[in-house]
Amino acid sequence: MAETITQGVPALRIEGLRMVYHPGLFQRRKLALHGLDLEVPKGSIYGFLGQNGAGKTTTLKTLVGLQMPTAGRAWIFGTDIRESASRAKVGFMPENPYFYEYLTARETLDFYGRLAGMPRAERRRRGEYLLERFGLGHAKDGSMRDFSKGMRQRLGLAQAILNQPPLVLLDEPMSGLDPLGRRDIRNEILALRDAGCTVFFSSHILSDVADICDRVCILHEGRKVAEGRLPKLLGQRVLEVQMSASGVPKEGLHEAAKLARRAWHDGELYHLLLESEDLALKAKEAIERGGGTLRRLVPHHESLEEYFIRVTREGDVARLAGAEEGSAAPEAASAPGPRGGLGA
Ligand SMILES: Nc1ncnc2c1ncn2[C@@H]1O[C@H](COP(=O)(O)OP(=O)(O)OP(=O)(O)O)[C@@H](O)[C@H]1O
Ligand SMILES: [Mg+2]
Repeated sequence: MAETITQGVPALRIEGLRMVYHPGLFQRRKLALHGLDLEVPKGSIYGFLGQNGAGKTTTLKTLVGLQMPTAGRAWIFGTDIRESASRAKVGFMPENPYFYEYLTARETLDFYGRLAGMPRAERRRRGEYLLERFGLGHAKDGSMRDFSKGMRQRLGLAQAILNQPPLVLLDEPMSGLDPLGRRDIRNEILALRDAGCTVFFSSHILSDVADICDRVCILHEGRKVAEGRLPKLLGQRVLEVQMSASGVPKEGLHEAAKLARRAWHDGELYHLLLESEDLALKAKEAIERGGGTLRRLVPHHESLEEYFIRVTREGDVARLAGAEEGSAAPEAASAPGPRGGLGA
């Protein structure tokens, strides 16, 4: 099916993706994906999160054709992943990228460029450019044997974007990197989006995800437990409100402080920490009734880490309550599993 990259088509669409592993005789089969539905808008940076064993690598490997799903379908810019043409639009960096030890970094990129069908001059130009850009210029003629974990990660990303694909799938691109290396990869992902590329990556490093992602999906034991735009997901709950005021007379302060979890004076301003927006509103009224002036009101929302822990716990509770299908459920190869729950 020939198609062009058109505006309305998502970069990636997954429908009812289900994966059951059959490890071998007498071994229990493993239901790794329970019918995943997902849509990644074009031009976005999308974080794919989940605890160890949640099914992230399974999903990514399936998308690039390294394994066949038990059921379900997916499309890359509208092209079914069962068609090899879909692969022409994807760059992929596997978890712990492996390279042939006897090649140099320059030869490695040349090798992948040839696999992608890039002309010789273009392979050379892009290879040199990316090796310099990723701080590997000094080691480009050294053996891959001597590459550290961080250098392999950088080369893995260079390999994934060598052919300038419009969609890049990265499995744990920041894992094992030092803070500088992580920053470089974060910046590279942002630069890819600026250039119009869509980036879909899995990660455990939630601070990095919170910094750069437009959207996230949280996978828990093969099920989607949350999905949506980050500001929307994290803006749903106010955990506490910090209020600062000046010129508050004793009675007004006393009344407001009774409502607060903590109240203190820093020599210039009075500060109150309140557990809800309702309490903050009451405290504000008390301060203003007393003739004080409100200087600052800062609602504190959930961090991505707090959100992640909450929704994965809720996923556990729902499963234990028997509200969802158990992981040992019989395989239904033709029927995709249930949709994920708490999607925004
Ligand atoms: N080839 C396989 N055979 C049997 N089970 C497998 C196989 N590959 C993965 N699994 C199982 O499928 C589940 C999902 O694994 P997957 O590697 O997709 O998780 P992940 O989210 O990438 O985890 P991590 O964060 O540790 O990389 C796990 O329970 C894992 O043990
Ligand atoms: Mg993995």
